[in-house]
Amino acid sequence: MSRILITSALPYINGIKHLGTLAGSMLPADVYARFQRSRGRETLYICATDEHGTPTELAAAAAGQDPSTFCQIQHDVQYDLGRKFGLSWDHFGRSSSPQNHKLTQRFARELWEAGFIEERITQQVYSNADKRFLPDRYVIGTCPHCGYTAARGDQCENCTRVLDPADLISPRSAVSGSEDIEIRDSKHLFLRQSVFSDKLRTWIDSKKGEWPLLVTSIALKWLDEGLQDRGITRDLEWGVPVNAWEWGPNPKGETPDIEGLAGKVFYVWFDAPIEYIAATWEWADARAAEAGRGPAEDAEWERWWRQPGAADVTYVEFMGKDNVPFHTVGFPCTLIGVNERLEADGSWRLANNAPWKLVDQLKGFNWLDYYGGKFSTSQKRGVFMDQALELLPADYWRWWVTANTPETSDATFTWEQFQAQVNADLADVLGNFVNRILKFTETRFEGVVPAGGEPTELETKLYADVDAKLAELTDHLESREFRKSTTALRQLWVLGNQYLTEAAPWTAIKTDPARAAIVVRTGLNLVALFAKVSEPFIPFAAEKIAMGVGEEFPGVWPTGQGAAILDILPPGRKVVAPQVLFKKVENEQVVEWVARFGGSETE
Ligand code: MF3
Ligand code: ZN
Repeated sequence: MSRILITSALPYINGIKHLGTLAGSMLPADVYARFQRSRGRETLYICATDEHGTPTELAAAAAGQDPSTFCQIQHDVQYDLGRKFGLSWDHFGRSSSPQNHKLTQRFARELWEAGFIEERITQQVYSNADKRFLPDRYVIGTCPHCGYTAARGDQCENCTRVLDPADLISPRSAVSGSEDIEIRDSKHLFLRQSVFSDKLRTWIDSKKGEWPLLVTSIALKWLDEGLQDRGITRDLEWGVPVNAWEWGPNPKGETPDIEGLAGKVFYVWFDAPIEYIAATWEWADARAAEAGRGPAEDAEWERWWRQPGAADVTYVEFMGKDNVPFHTVGFPCTLIGVNERLEADGSWRLANNAPWKLVDQLKGFNWLDYYGGKFSTSQKRGVFMDQALELLPADYWRWWVTANTPETSDATFTWEQFQAQVNADLADVLGNFVNRILKFTETRFEGVVPAGGEPTELETKLYADVDAKLAELTDHLESREFRKSTTALRQLWVLGNQYLTEAAPWTAIKTDPARAAIVVRTGLNLVALFAKVSEPFIPFAAEKIAMGVGEEFPGVWPTGQGAAILDILPPGRKVVAPQVLFKKVENEQVVEWVARFGGSETE
């Protein structure tokens, strides 16, 4: 049986995430991980905070903290919120971990020694007032094309023209506003992405039809435009130091310019994806520590990532569409570069007897908007993870977000639609069903699963309907179709209500107690089934439901067919109706929340 390795795009350390980030990476990854675990597959779901880069340095400075303290605090905040949302990470690591430092430096050395990295002199803006180099977008000035006075050094927001900081009229630092800036030469490392072009195209072509169209088309567009070599170092302090002093000569016999590269760190987009692997190493170390032994053996984490040991692993990545280029081009270049060599005749040969795994399934998402506009941290527009949990239990959010996953197009959050959907699906359909049948069992069957009665046509039809919906649900989850899977699950819940209404045990009990018994037993078995198959989506409610009918949680994904699926609960077992499962979202709440968070009128 195959093992499943899952990663979701690493959230930036900077700031609490909003529902859009959840929708486009962490939540679908969690639903999938929970599903795979309940299928009995060995599953590892890895995530981490993405901690390096200029925005982190600036945010730390604004908070009056050094970057390392800032990141520690913010990491803990994000970890805590993720857990409260039920995100079942096997490990939530940090891209600033010692493991990631080691692995990033090791990959860089191997890429250099293989000839895939080269040195170049680049011109960088230095701010004397801030005593630091400024990335292009932290230089602002007047656009030479349209006269906009707050144009960024990488692009003018007003006329959208791509700029170079040197194009700006009266350039100044976006950090301090100081005009005391100058252009300095600076040595940097470039990953020669252009040499991987054909190889990447063959690989992406082979994924057509298997990966979402969104993903392969973004990747191919990137390749069609021609792959640029990419600067993978920065003049910053907070990051993984360039360890050029450890490097041997490249294939041309050149040694790196140790002095010229001193004090530089790797670009955040170079080290962040490597953290997927390094976080697995962190996970193995943490487990070893728990077991009271020293650091883990390499084999313990490499078995997920390196061939041939990882041959039974299916690696699945989840991310928003803006991340796709980095995962179909950038990170694969790093991995292919440490695995293989390019021969003079243009062919590739394996140069690593334990090559690193590339992604098998890449699930990319469109955007989740807020009333058709962007979620915005600065304008406090939209719902953020901490606020969401203040308002309602995690399951409400998990359900709505999964049911509206931006898969084939962008999706939009509105309070009105949110209210309508969670009330209809969770309160009216699932909550109502569980409550109805359990309350009835309590009042008429002394709260125990009744014995007796024989299935009639109604039950036979129910078995067939349940089989069909369950198969749909399983297929959609297996193929990571989240919207479709929530539709199938909702329809499964609806079957429960329909069955109860038609079978009407409250009428049967007056004339035919055996008939009432089998209906109630069947209904209770539906409850047990719903707890199992709802767990990936709404784990907190699913646990309460499972407790109600005395089932283990989390359960095993059902595999049987027909009557067997609804023959789980032993007659005689004590059951109890859970306290209110889902309270309805009221109109007054929606009014209040629209006022607090903004609605259509703020567009
Ligand atoms: N932090 C990035 C974002 O939120 C995602 C990084 S994914 C990684 O867009 F693989 F590079 F880590
Ligand atoms: Zn302009």
